[in-house]
Amino acid sequence: MSQFPPLKKGDFVIMVMFLLRIITFMTIWDNIYKNKKKSSDTWATPSDRFYTVFKKFLDRSDFKIKHVLDIGCGVGKYLKILQSEGFKTDGMDSSETAVEMTKKLLGDDSAILCTDMFEFEITKDKYDLITSILTIHHGTKRQVQCLVGRIYEAIADDGKIFITVPDYESSKKWDSFKNHKEVAEGTFVPLLGPEKGLPHSFYTKEEIRKLFSNFKGLMLDMDNQGNWIVQASK
Ligand SMILES: C[S@@+](CC[C@H](N)C(=O)[O-])C[C@H]1O[C@@H](n2cnc3c(N)ncnc32)[C@H](O)[C@@H]1O
Repeated sequence: MSQFPPLKKGDFVIMVMFLLRIITFMTIWDNIYKNKKKSSDTWATPSDRFYTVFKKFLDRSDFKIKHVLDIGCGVGKYLKILQSEGFKTDGMDSSETAVEMTKKLLGDDSAILCTDMFEFEITKDKYDLITSILTIHHGTKRQVQCLVGRIYEAIADDGKIFITVPDYESSKKWDSFKNHKEVAEGTFVPLLGPEKGLPHSFYTKEEIRKLFSNFKGLMLDMDNQGNWIVQASK
């Protein structure tokens, strides 16, 4: 006999709504990539604003295992750089199109998964680098906090993170957020544009310090568009 109580009608409705939410945001991102794919392919190169800091970070770091996970890998542009530096590259993204493009770009046996970063159980102590560019804020602050906790556990001792998180004050100047709805404290949903309907959480410097307080040697830089670049180690 099952040890779980039978599902009630209310439980079923919650499960359906949850599944619909996941399918909706996955579809929105997939459409963004399908449209970008049609327009040009130059967007697949890393933007200068993170590239310079990222290269400096790699040059001064010492990685023993050389195994990276990129959360929200998009079309794989950061993984490609890491592959050329000798890393074994794993990645995840919610867009099927982006995942296919990353697999094609890397062309090896890298594990690139189409999945929801807030649901995926990352293997503990597996990576000595976890990167996530312009991605982890696509949820509520509670979801982001749980994810950062799982990132901490997935990093091996002395492993490092390179993660970006948008700044609370700067976000007020973003064109895409002129028309928005606040769905939770510090979490906004744009009402127009390609990311319409997708939650984005924004952080003050103090909140970021708290969010990454388990990590050692926290370094925070801001890019010219109001994204904090978080570098730290376990
Ligand atoms: C702004 S793009 C950045 C992509 C890439 N890191 C880059 O810098 O080019 C955000 C990425 O996060 C992915 N994403 C958003 N929500 C996600 C989720 N819940 N789980 C996994 N990936 C997600 C999107 O599909 C998209 O590829």
